[in-house]
Amino acid sequence: MSFMSWIDARYPATKVWNEHLAKYYAPKNFNFWYFFGSLAMFILVLQIVTGLWLATFYKPSAEEAFASVEFIMRDVEYGWLLRYLHSTGSSAFFILVYLHMFRGLMYGSFREPRELLWIIGVVIYVVMMATAFMGYLLPWGQMSYWGAQVIVNLFAAVPFGLGEPLSLWIRGDYVVSDATLNRFFALHFLLPFVLVGLVFVHIVALHKVGSNNPDGIEIKNDKDENGIPKDGIPFHPYYSVKDTFGIGVFLIFFLGVVFFWPDVGGLFLEPPNFEPANPLKTPEHIAPVWYFTPFYAMLRAVPNIMNSQFPGVVVMFAGILIFFLLPWLDRSPVKSIRYKGNLFKWALGIFVVSFIVLSWLGLQANTPMNTLMSQIFTTLYFAFFLLMPIYSKLDKTKPVPERVTK
Ligand code: HEM
Repeated sequence: MSFMSWIDARYPATKVWNEHLAKYYAPKNFNFWYFFGSLAMFILVLQIVTGLWLATFYKPSAEEAFASVEFIMRDVEYGWLLRYLHSTGSSAFFILVYLHMFRGLMYGSFREPRELLWIIGVVIYVVMMATAFMGYLLPWGQMSYWGAQVIVNLFAAVPFGLGEPLSLWIRGDYVVSDATLNRFFALHFLLPFVLVGLVFVHIVALHKVGSNNPDGIEIKNDKDENGIPKDGIPFHPYYSVKDTFGIGVFLIFFLGVVFFWPDVGGLFLEPPNFEPANPLKTPEHIAPVWYFTPFYAMLRAVPNIMNSQFPGVVVMFAGILIFFLLPWLDRSPVKSIRYKGNLFKWALGIFVVSFIVLSWLGLQANTPMNTLMSQIFTTLYFAFFLLMPIYSKLDKTKPVPERVTK
């Protein structure tokens, strides 16, 4: 009896290998946009490995956190590399996931039968945001401290007397303090493993319904006499090789930033965070890290009503949670942008521009002009979703071919 048959009699190793890799048929026309799922997986593993390593030197206390990070940077062998891999990794993770989501928007990958796959993706996105937010407090620099102070205070805006107890419960104190740092560290350690679980469920959902592709055609509907989709190719070795090549190219750019430009001009690592947290000194200008700034700009776009910030907080969270509704907003008869008409192309273009402008506005100081721009672009951002049932129906679509093209 061979070693593998001994294993297979006790564990479905070959079965899983075949069903999910060697005999998993993926559309043959994947393009550039299909690199980002596997790259996101790669970065998740990198974040866990470097994070675990950092945790062996880091001290989660208000007294020692900042100094322990400096110790990692200056005294721990290759500590600077570990930290820069992790800090650059968090920004890279968001870039990859934003590109991954954009692909979904272009090719209608959120549409039936992939609604649940998309919803799990949005849950992943929300958990990623929580993980990054808590991680950002850990170096205990000025921006860590005041950024957390601003964001946790938002919860105090919840009405009916619930806000204050809620923000107190999150902080564990009346201000961001040692107690907050300690619990954020515990949760920042836990959540990446929750992400691993969610990514597993994401892939299970993907393999149940099969991948979409740039043509938005279901390859499962056209099989040969052996039951193999005519437009499918085995994931392994074709796409395992493609994805490995993608990781190689990605690493050239990623390591370029890690080695030569780790702060990216104050965007990936903000200048005030090189100063230790000082609860008595508010920085002149508080802005979250770039991947949160579109939503921060939305928050600032909404004026306080009856002295309450609550409406802004609602709009900010709505900006994130609206992605959940997408599968039910698109009424177009076709999935992919290739066969959609100009209305959709314009809507998607305006949405992308709004997202980028809002990211920029969230980093700028609050001036009347910036507030007005935030209001305009927040409206355009929401219009993409809320008007979709209308423009996706009116749009003039092109006929979809029977088989995938290129
Ligand atoms: C940790 C973050 C994530 C990881 C590791 C991940 C991983 C993957 C992988 C490996 C695939 C298959 C390969 C590919 O299509 O690129 C995939 C597909 C997909 N993911 Fe994700 N994903 C993540 C986050 C998200 C998010 C945030 C969304 C949406 C909000 C999302 C939506 C989708 C959809 C719709 C597909 C199917 C795409 C298609 O077949 O066209 N994913 N994901």
